[in-house]
Amino acid sequence: MNATAAVAAAVVPAAGRGERLGPGAPKALRDLGGVPLLVHAVRALARSRAVGLVVVAAPADGVAEVVGLLDSHGLDGKDVRVVAGGATRQESVRLGLAAIPAEVEVVLVHDAARPLVPVEVVDAVAAAVRAGAEAVVPAVPLADTVKRVEPNPGGPEPVLDTPDRATLRAVQTPQGFRRDTLAAVHARALTEETGGALPPVTDDAGLVERFGGRVVVVPGHEEAFKVTRPLDLVLAEAVLARRRASDGF
Ligand code: CTP
Ligand code: MG
Repeated sequence: MNATAAVAAAVVPAAGRGERLGPGAPKALRDLGGVPLLVHAVRALARSRAVGLVVVAAPADGVAEVVGLLDSHGLDGKDVRVVAGGATRQESVRLGLAAIPAEVEVVLVHDAARPLVPVEVVDAVAAAVRAGAEAVVPAVPLADTVKRVEPNPGGPEPVLDTPDRATLRAVQTPQGFRRDTLAAVHARALTEETGGALPPVTDDAGLVERFGGRVVVVPGHEEAFKVTRPLDLVLAEAVLARRRASDGF
């Protein structure tokens, strides 16, 4: 399927090193049930009929390796391209976005580190953008109570306050955007960062919020969790084993 205005394109930032996961290959290339995390993530997107093109932002020194990996795994005939990522997640997304054809109107951004996102979440995010939202994030309620603290690494940290947990959501990906909105906030962040005034954001919707846009939340899924620390990989293996046992996935 070709990328046209009728289908969404997805950007997959995959250029991180995975420092919190510990020593080893870049996180996106780490193994989950015999398949790299990145391949799981791209397949999860490719499974959605809403997605026609996937652009992967690979580690800058790993572009050829990622092209080879994606070629050697079946990807439902979807158009998959690879570009070199950047030094931050934000830069990787911006570089991926620049490789999307001009006529594409809806863009999803999905972490390579979320290999098990169910296709229903991908479809729901794309549908909410199609229905008129400029920025959509899937999210789940929090299990833990959250406190804001005055950071003091290694020592006791004074608590500032405790936000009402009922109003908090843990945000996942894919996040969905009108393409013009996402391109505009990334371009503006790049210009304004040059002045050094802005703290980094950890997701794309955060940029939309920063510049006054409206972001809405749709239900996420517990299996869309991010593989960040070693225990997350254990959980991902268990979820995958359960899927394979139940439906030969
Ligand atoms: N990412 C990226 N380019 C970067 C940094 C991160 O494309 N320069 C991507 C990661 O590959 C990942 C996603 O952004 O798919 C979410 O980031 P995170 O979970 O923080 O991954 P890493 O940065 O790889 O992990 P860590 O922060 O533990 O090093
Ligand atoms: Mg990181």
